[in-house]
Amino acid sequence: MKTVTCIAPVNIAVIKYWGKRDEDLILPINDSLSSTLSTDYMCSKTTIMVSPTFKENRFWLNNKEVTFDSERLNNCLNEVKRRASPTCGELLQWKLHICSENNFPTAAGLASSAAGYACLVYALAALYRVEGDISGIARRGSGSACRSIYGGWVRWNKGTLPSGEDSIATQVAPASHWPEMRIIVLVVSDDKKKTSSTSGMKRSVETSEFLKDRAEKVVPRRTDEMIEAIKSKNFEAFAQLTMQDSNQFHSVCLDTYPPCFYMNDVSRAIIEMVHAYNEYKGSNKVAYTFDAGPNACLYLLEDHVEEIVALINEIFPPLAVDATEYFRGYPIHVNSS
Ligand code: PMV
Repeated sequence: MKTVTCIAPVNIAVIKYWGKRDEDLILPINDSLSSTLSTDYMCSKTTIMVSPTFKENRFWLNNKEVTFDSERLNNCLNEVKRRASPTCGELLQWKLHICSENNFPTAAGLASSAAGYACLVYALAALYRVEGDISGIARRGSGSACRSIYGGWVRWNKGTLPSGEDSIATQVAPASHWPEMRIIVLVVSDDKKKTSSTSGMKRSVETSEFLKDRAEKVVPRRTDEMIEAIKSKNFEAFAQLTMQDSNQFHSVCLDTYPPCFYMNDVSRAIIEMVHAYNEYKGSNKVAYTFDAGPNACLYLLEDHVEEIVALINEIFPPLAVDATEYFRGYPIHVNSS
């Protein structure tokens, strides 16, 4: 018997991935860029056991057994096994028992699948002693999962090869490059989202003309500008690009037919609060970004955390969060009634 346990954090995109050119290989139509949170908060934890006595492969997600027949799960497993070290021998024949859990809401637009698949693939790769980049394998589980394989600021290069070999993640800068950066996650709702990112993306690719323009004309330029802003630690530019990209992604969702609505009134109130705060300060001190759900992620520098937390407590009561509890990636529940 052999056991491996791994932890992987979520990542929050500042240039969004939206749209696939290949559904099976999970190849995107544009590059994307994110930061991976620290392992202190919002993580997936996966334990894998293999034993010659196990009769079948079994999987438990958040303490509930689920079937092992997911295509994505099997694609990841087969790919890891294909690249397994020749020293693995009979280990490759043993059945697996996998337990995976998230310490935050699953499927609520909080990148749970990214952390989950990154963790699963990392653990499998450790078990079967795979060498080299494994982000391309995590991508087969959930596109954005490839970015959680690396820490800090990470770019997912869309790649051009039909095989997807060059559609992998690379680190742009380590987290230590910008140590003052903080993320506040505002949990507006932890309900399961109505339209999964997979079906939302498919519908956008099929029906949104705007998406094509975004992928071809806007994202390449914006990704370069974003990398420049991160490298030079220019928060003003970073914040503007982050907010514009989130807004453009949600405009694509609206341009999709029938439209996908991910944000709600509370999300929009958060957007207004951020712009009002930045206007009051005379420059961008905080940036919002929203994935395929109503929850907000705020990027800001450490100096502004206390004031922003006080503002959130004031505008969205009842919320009693002490700024001193605040760390990179710590989620706050926002009253959404
Ligand atoms: O990896 P998926 O299929 O969960 O898609 C994630 C899409 C967004 O979260 C909306 C954007 C992103 O780049 O993370």
